[in-house]
Amino acid sequence: MNFFKIPTPCYVLEEDKLKKNLKILNFVQIESGAKVLLALKGYAFWRSFELIRDYIKGCCASGIYEAMLAFEEFGSREIDKEICVFSPAYKNLEMEQLLPIATHIIFNSFAQWQKFKNKIENKNKHLQSLGFSEIEVGLRVNPLYSEVQPPIYNPCISGSRLGITPSEFEKGVRNFGLEGIQGLHFHTHCEQNSDVLERTLVHFEKYFKPYASQMKWFNFGGGHHITRSDYDVQKLIAIIKDFRARYGDADVFLEPGEAVGWQSGFLIGEVVDIVWNEIAIAILDVSASAHMPDCLEMPYRPNVKKISLVGNEQQIEEDKGEKIGKYSYRFGGPTCLAGDVIGDYSFETPLNVGDKILFEDMMHYTIVKNNTFNGVPLPSLGVISNGEFRLLKNFDYNDYKNRN
Ligand SMILES: Cc1ncc(COP(=O)(O)O)c(C=O)c1O
Repeated sequence: MNFFKIPTPCYVLEEDKLKKNLKILNFVQIESGAKVLLALKGYAFWRSFELIRDYIKGCCASGIYEAMLAFEEFGSREIDKEICVFSPAYKNLEMEQLLPIATHIIFNSFAQWQKFKNKIENKNKHLQSLGFSEIEVGLRVNPLYSEVQPPIYNPCISGSRLGITPSEFEKGVRNFGLEGIQGLHFHTHCEQNSDVLERTLVHFEKYFKPYASQMKWFNFGGGHHITRSDYDVQKLIAIIKDFRARYGDADVFLEPGEAVGWQSGFLIGEVVDIVWNEIAIAILDVSASAHMPDCLEMPYRPNVKKISLVGNEQQIEEDKGEKIGKYSYRFGGPTCLAGDVIGDYSFETPLNVGDKILFEDMMHYTIVKNNTFNGVPLPSLGVISNGEFRLLKNFDYNDYKNRN
């Protein structure tokens, strides 16, 4: 692969790596009977949906735009695909637009369910008359247990707005009953292994078991790091099979975003200048703030490769870690934000202006979060398929102008 032929900055999907993830997810579906939905909030690279839809059951959407994308590019009830929507709160117009698209609608409160109950029932009569499956309705619950760190990613922190707490659920059932509710949903994981799901289900059942026998399906949310090499897939399968057996063979949904895009591509940038302030600082055409916001939010430090041209030869060197290699650099973005720093890296050979920097594992929670802060251009989109790079999309000044 000649990395110097790729325009920078550019996100590049490696199709064979994506396929490897999809095979694992499909294996989980086949062995456990669970349905896997792609969480578009994490990975909405729809130019790869043609491939993804061969392996998994549908999409999980956070609102109308994601649901529309799933409908247009992934598939809908007409071809036996599911579009499962959860939003902390739906506005009237959003619900109008969701009704023709969604197969499952999950509410975050009894009040929202009551508000839209009649509309959904009317829509279902219509779908029934056409011979289509009806929209199924669920409630998101908060099992008061999550092992997620840091707190910004933990939906069970005290005062969380995400999911109905056990006491509020009990009140809701007393006031409105559960007729018309087919499923319960929780999302309490982030980058976690199957042992965490096992512990979480104990808490879910502690609070919601009395209602579970009335349910047709359970949605265990995302955050299951199924495609990571140390993930215990067999344990996940056993947990799901056991759970389904205890609840009358109910359907179980998993909605991973990160596990779909995990290590399936990179972001490539270029060294534009190198300045000095106690340490050598490489200024790149990629930004933590605009292109890799989780580096600042989480925070985390992506692995990188430095790609240089020596004569006509491409030389690729993996980073040695912070201040371990002979030559150390801080990588910073082109914005005005003082903290737009990706991390400190070191190599055995010096870095030069014009070198390419490849940031690994950049397909999830990056493109979906991009912004044009400081008018920084949006990275292009590309794919490597059968060893060949193909440019899929370039952005330009108009993408910046139209957002402002
Ligand atoms: C409700 C819900 N489902 C699914 C996901 C996807 O999670 P992940 O990409 O970590 O698998 C999220 C992430 O925040 C979520 O909030």
